[in-house]
Amino acid sequence: MNREQLRAYRAEHVPLFNSQKLKLGVFALNCSGGSIITNFPTDRQMTWDYNKSVIQLADRMGMEVALPIGRFKGQGGSSNHNGNSYEVYTWAAAMAAATENIMCFATSHVALTHPVIAAKQAATIDHISNGRFGLNVVMGWFAQEMAMFNVALREHDDRYRYGDEWLTVVKRLWSDDSVFDFEGEYLKLKGLEAQPKPIQRPGPILVNAGTSPAGVDFSARNVDVCFGSPAKPEDIDRLLAVRTIADQKFNRDVALMCSALVVCRDTEAEAQSAYQEILDNGDWDAAHSMLAALGVQSGSFKEGHDERMKRFVAGYGTRPLVGTPEQIVDMLIDYSNRGLHGIVFYFKDYLAELTYFSEKVMPLLKQAGLRH
Ligand SMILES: Cc1cc2nc3c(=O)[nH]c(=O)nc-3n(C[C@H](O)[C@H](O)[C@H](O)COP(=O)(O)O)c2cc1C
Repeated sequence: MNREQLRAYRAEHVPLFNSQKLKLGVFALNCSGGSIITNFPTDRQMTWDYNKSVIQLADRMGMEVALPIGRFKGQGGSSNHNGNSYEVYTWAAAMAAATENIMCFATSHVALTHPVIAAKQAATIDHISNGRFGLNVVMGWFAQEMAMFNVALREHDDRYRYGDEWLTVVKRLWSDDSVFDFEGEYLKLKGLEAQPKPIQRPGPILVNAGTSPAGVDFSARNVDVCFGSPAKPEDIDRLLAVRTIADQKFNRDVALMCSALVVCRDTEAEAQSAYQEILDNGDWDAAHSMLAALGVQSGSFKEGHDERMKRFVAGYGTRPLVGTPEQIVDMLIDYSNRGLHGIVFYFKDYLAELTYFSEKVMPLLKQAGLRH
C-alpha cells in the first residue's frame, strides 16, 4: 500500500483515523495511581469490573483509544505508585471482547517481550477486536523493573536501535507469508512464520512516546502515532516536528497525540481545589525515584513548589487541564488548532469524572466542531 492508499484504508477501517476532528481516549487506567503520583482520596478501584465499566463508558461515548501503561514494578514511596497493575496484553484482549468500537492498546517493552510472542499476541487481539488493536512500543527506562527479568537497560539510543530491529521482525511476521530467517545486529532468528495475519493491513496501529532525538526519529520512521508530553500549549508546535521528519525523511504519515490529567468541575474554584488536593497528597518520594530512573536530575526539583515537580506528580510532566467544562473545551480547541490529532485523559476518579465529562464537556466539544 502506498501512502495515499494507506490513508484511505485507515480512514475507512481504523477508528483512530475516523472523521472526528479531535480523537479522544482514556489512559493509565490499568495501574494504581495511573499517571498521578499521589495518595489523594478517590473512589477509583483497581478491579476488573471498574476497568471494564470505564472503558465501556468511553466506548459508548465514541472515544477512540483505550491506552494502558505497561508496568511490572511499583515506584516505591508511600503509594508504591503503579505497584498494582494489570498486564497489558491480557487487559487489551479482554477489553476488546467487552467493547464495540474503541481501539484497545497494549504496551510492549521491546527488551522484555520476544518479537514472535508480541506479533502473535497482537494478531490474536486484532482478531478478537475485529481490527481494533494497537500497540505502544516502549524501549524501557526503569532499570529495577528490567532486573526482574534479568535484562540490563541498554544505553539510551541503543535501546531505539534494538527497538528498530524488534519492530522490523514484528512487522514482517504480520505481512510476510513465507518462512524467513532474520539476521540482525541483536536478533538472529530462524524459520520465522506467523499465521493468522492481523485483520488491519499492513498491521495494527503502532504508537511510541519517545521525546529524545532518538525517540522522535524512531517514531518518524516506524509508528503511526507519536505521543508528546506538552508542558504548555506552545510545546505542541515544536512536537509537530515529528510529522515533518516522517514526511520528508521517510515519506510517511505520523499523527501527534498527547495525554493529560483532566480536573473539570462546575466552577474554576472547585476544579482548582480538586487539583490542589492531588498536590497536597503528592507522593514526592515516588516522584523523585521515578525521575531518577528516567535519568532526570530531580535534585533541583523542590517538592510541592516547583512547577515542573507539580506537573510531574499530576501527569508525568504533561500540562494538566483544570477548569470548567467551557475552559476545558477552550484548551482542547487550542490544542486542535495547533495540529494535535488527539488526546488521552486520566482522572482522579475515572468513572465519576468520565460520566461528568460525557454530560458536560462532550456536548460543548460537539458545538465546537471537534466531535460530531
Ligand atoms: C502517553 C505516554 C505513554 C507511555 N507509556 C509508557 C509505558 O506504558 N511504559 C513505559 O515504561 N514507558 C511509557 N512511556 C515513556 C516513553 O515510552 C519514553 O520512555 C519516555 O517518554 C522517554 O522518552 P525517550 O526514550 O525518548 O527519552 C510513556 C510516555 C507517554 C508520554
